[in-house]
Amino acid sequence: MRKKVIAGNWKMNLLPNEAIAYIDTLDPLVADTENEVVLFVPYTDLFYSLLQIQNTNIKIGAQNMHFAEKGAYTGEISAQMLKSINVDYVLIGHSERRQYFNETDETVNKKVKTALENEIKPVICVGETLEQREKGETEEIITTQIEKALEGIKPEQMKDVMVAYEPIWAIGTGKTATSEDANNAIKAIRNKICQIYGQNVAESIIIQYGGSVKSTNCKELFTMSDIDGGLVGGASLDPHEFAKIVNYDK
Ligand code: 13P
Repeated sequence: MRKKVIAGNWKMNLLPNEAIAYIDTLDPLVADTENEVVLFVPYTDLFYSLLQIQNTNIKIGAQNMHFAEKGAYTGEISAQMLKSINVDYVLIGHSERRQYFNETDETVNKKVKTALENEIKPVICVGETLEQREKGETEEIITTQIEKALEGIKPEQMKDVMVAYEPIWAIGTGKTATSEDANNAIKAIRNKICQIYGQNVAESIIIQYGGSVKSTNCKELFTMSDIDGGLVGGASLDPHEFAKIVNYDK
């Protein structure tokens, strides 16, 4: 049985003092959950958040990183920098990074490799636009994104890889994919991983759904056969609402 991973992506929100207060509020609300709880926080909140989660079951991730080990990349953050403060996870290829910051399948692939080499678990984000969905291209788009993201990744590295399926038209719009559609898309990703790595890897990899997840729709989504939890944007900014999503099974 795969565990559920419920993650909040704060995007460009919350200052360090707000991050600390958030974690203090969230901690007792999720202390009893069997689900894995992860917060993807802005770089400036990472260190404060990592101190604040000590002795809790909350994990911390970064929202991006550069693929180079080090060098003349003004303004960028390396995997080694994240590892040096014990960051566990990193989001790679979020659609907002693909859309606004020229992230491509090639840079995503390089970042996945660098993250794994530095023992940080990448969460690879994939998803189709509304136009692609309407043309019936969803499966092709997301399975190609996955195939390219994983190029050169060895089977034994796959235990540290997670995927988030986030249809772009569902992000921040209040529109959620139906649980059946989300489940089918995630099944298609799992089948692609099965083709590349075989059944064991395909059955153990965590694949989340993201896109307008909230406390009122999370149970329906997370109880589908292939959906292993969620990547939550807007609704994760309130620790009480996020705790309800983490505790969807209570
Ligand atoms: P929303 O939950 O605000 O739609 O954002 C989803 C998302 O992009 C999480 O990474």
